[in-house]
Amino acid sequence: MSYQQTKYWSVDNIVDNLIESKEIQEAAAFLREGKLVAFPTETVYGLGASARSDEAVTSIFTAKGRPADNPLIVHISQQKDVYNFTKSVPEKAEKLMEKFWPGALTIILAHNGRLSTKVTAGLSTVGLRMPDHPVALALIEASGEPIAAPSANRSGRPSPTTAAHTAEDLQGRIAGIVDGGATGLGVESTVIDCSGELPIILRPGGVTQSQLEAVIGRVEVDQSLTEEAAPRSPGMKYKHYAPEAPLTLVDGDEDFFRSCVRKHKENGEKVGLILFPALASMEADAVYILSDNRIETTARELYSALRTFKKSEVDHILMQAVPADELGFAVMNRLVKAAGGRILTQ
Ligand code: TXA
Ligand code: MG
Repeated sequence: MSYQQTKYWSVDNIVDNLIESKEIQEAAAFLREGKLVAFPTETVYGLGASARSDEAVTSIFTAKGRPADNPLIVHISQQKDVYNFTKSVPEKAEKLMEKFWPGALTIILAHNGRLSTKVTAGLSTVGLRMPDHPVALALIEASGEPIAAPSANRSGRPSPTTAAHTAEDLQGRIAGIVDGGATGLGVESTVIDCSGELPIILRPGGVTQSQLEAVIGRVEVDQSLTEEAAPRSPGMKYKHYAPEAPLTLVDGDEDFFRSCVRKHKENGEKVGLILFPALASMEADAVYILSDNRIETTARELYSALRTFKKSEVDHILMQAVPADELGFAVMNRLVKAAGGRILTQ
């Protein structure tokens, strides 16, 4: 991988005619030339490249250090673009697009071969998503290309929710970063496979199971998300979201949490804590206090919190588990992976 200058565009303060702005036009031209450009979406920052170019898509995998068998999501700016890249679109998928696009839902459908085979990692299906972010939509539209974009982190690290996180991981490895401020949701899109008879959630995310079921009836959840089973989504089997120091989740009340923290301290470890406001007075070598108790806030701040702790400062990070329902299902999915499965139960 040759190191290169990374161009930086700030579009946070552009309110009128974003798509015609010099910044978006330059970034879009980079994408058309096959270069890599990171950009904000409503979930996390994505690392974009033209999904029709083998070369451009291959360079995403190189920049991230991502295993080649893990397919990428293709981002589009208009719902009708789905029909350019798929064989057929079942009625349930259409209903989901109508209801949740633009938004945090990636829909897996059988593709028609018009995208780079590198995007789909050789599978017969492709994941498509129309993001709900003005900067993402303007950039995709201006490029005139379908844009393959995984989260803009080095493989294995927490996803980036700011341009600064993106630069921390990819500065010098990609052509450009469009800074549109912090992302809103903080966890990635829900991935739902609509290529078979019964829709299946492969990755929980911003749109919850009950929201989906309210629109299309019964939706399954991939077994690997609730029990020990091989995941259907290639990406779900890899190490993910890992902070610099090991993380342990604590599933129990406040006293149990305090006792777990005490044990780590007694072992002579430097401890980092991600805390809900009620425990804000706890002392440790490094602390991140979540802004409030709401699950939306935990989702939004989670990756940023994980990135706060440097291995030079802490040996171990602890955090209380959250109830794994609704958006909490996605948050716990990420947390359990970030913790490499380490959970202490009361
Ligand atoms: O919110 C998001 O989805 C963000 C933003 C940037 O859009 N993107 C994102 O991409 O999270 P990535 O590459 O980090 O995660 C994509 C997930 C992986 O778990 C991958 O295996 C799965 O989607 N995936 C993509 N295409 C698939 C396919 N055809 N079949 C099954 N799983 C697929
Ligand atoms: Mg990712």
